[in-house]
Amino acid sequence: MDFLRHDIDIEKDRFIAELMDLLRIPSVSADPAFREDVFRTADAVAASMKAAGLDKVEVLPTPGFPVVFGEKIIDNTLPTVLVYGHYDVQPADPYELWHSPPFEPVIKDGKIYARGACDDKGQMYMHVKAIELMLKHNALPCNVKMIVEGEEEVGSNHLGDFINEYKEKLKCDVVLVSDTSIIANDLPSVTVGLRGLCYMEVEVTGPNRDLHSGVYGGAVPNPINALCEIIANLKDENDHITIDGFYDDVLEVSLEERKAMNEAPFDVDAYKKDLALADVRGEKGYTPLEHTSIRPTVDVNGIWGGYTGEGAKTVLPSKAFAKISMRLVPNQQSDKIAELFEAHFRKIAPKSVHVKVTPHHGGEPVVVPTDSIEYKAAAMAMEKTYGKAPIPQRGGGSIPIVALFEQVLGVKTVLMGFGLDSDDIHSPNEHYGIFNYLKGIETIPYFYEYYTALRT
Ligand code: BES
Ligand code: MN
Ligand code: MN
Repeated sequence: MDFLRHDIDIEKDRFIAELMDLLRIPSVSADPAFREDVFRTADAVAASMKAAGLDKVEVLPTPGFPVVFGEKIIDNTLPTVLVYGHYDVQPADPYELWHSPPFEPVIKDGKIYARGACDDKGQMYMHVKAIELMLKHNALPCNVKMIVEGEEEVGSNHLGDFINEYKEKLKCDVVLVSDTSIIANDLPSVTVGLRGLCYMEVEVTGPNRDLHSGVYGGAVPNPINALCEIIANLKDENDHITIDGFYDDVLEVSLEERKAMNEAPFDVDAYKKDLALADVRGEKGYTPLEHTSIRPTVDVNGIWGGYTGEGAKTVLPSKAFAKISMRLVPNQQSDKIAELFEAHFRKIAPKSVHVKVTPHHGGEPVVVPTDSIEYKAAAMAMEKTYGKAPIPQRGGGSIPIVALFEQVLGVKTVLMGFGLDSDDIHSPNEHYGIFNYLKGIETIPYFYEYYTALRT
């Protein structure tokens, strides 16, 4: 792989320009207004995979957005790496908080600013370029397959059926994903866990229509007040979640493992400063690093109802709504948590209101063993290009399909991401460092080299 540094140096402008072209297509999977753009992005990804030299490139339909597939089989007796990524992005709202338009990428201070720059177009595209370089030099050490989906940001609802249907086509020995972060550019890490997710929407109804808040106020239950009471009661004074049975399946992490985890560098003052927080806050008895990795959460993502327009309207509203998500840890199960949530919500709701609880998407938590060949290969690859062994670290986010790769395909996933937590994914002004992009392209081929060597 000696060609990597030289080639990347020569080709970097093209690699960056190509990524910027991909970032110009607004592939927002959540918003029907962008439907055509999402399909167009799939075609663009397919074209880039073909150009990189992959065979059998196809845009495979699903009941939702398509999955792009490609492969290079060099020898059936060698191991096969399946690369997974997603070409869809989160909505860019609120647009007014962006310093430059989200779908007109710009480079500033060595970073590419655009929605999807890091999550996950930039990280996915590193694989396309790494494969291109390996194929160009006839240096691909094993077989590779690649799938890029368009529904990750809305829960990967059709991908489970897809991998079941194409089980044979996707047969592999390991899945490789770049959709997570490292600790810092001089502190590489490999992600060894993901949290699961259970996302619910609730509707609370008081009277059957909006009312005059003077004529009726005092005798009629206000659904917004009721919803606020319920939400306030989802956690106790120690920020422990009160949902009956919520912690029953939580696998407690050993003190030894927690000690190791807390040795990872974390500067709480810098964290507070970066987020302009008066203080951090979380479940009693755990550190912020633990709050965002090994502990489950409940958070309101949005809440609405009543009058929120200009000026003041005296109204006693009929309805109140909220979107509430729970991050899950091993061995919690999203379906079971959804049931517990609904039962608890109904139990604590004041009897004077009606409630409706609807589950959105879910996903299961994941842990990656650090004593595996997969992990070792990733760690060696990072050590090679960063000059420093990576720290294993659990991630707080979710990638719903990863648990299913293990269930359906029977393989482990390596989460070798190159982003930074400060890249503002899902936020205004998302960006991806050019250093990170190029370092990813350089590191990925070594994973193939070391994985193949360790396996054969
Ligand atoms: N790439 C993220 C997940 C992530 C980010 C994991 C950083 C670890 C560190 C992914 O695109 C994402 O945002 N997932 C969603 C899943 C959901 C929409 C089902 C999430 O975590 O909210
Ligand atoms: Mn992602
Ligand atoms: Mn995301």
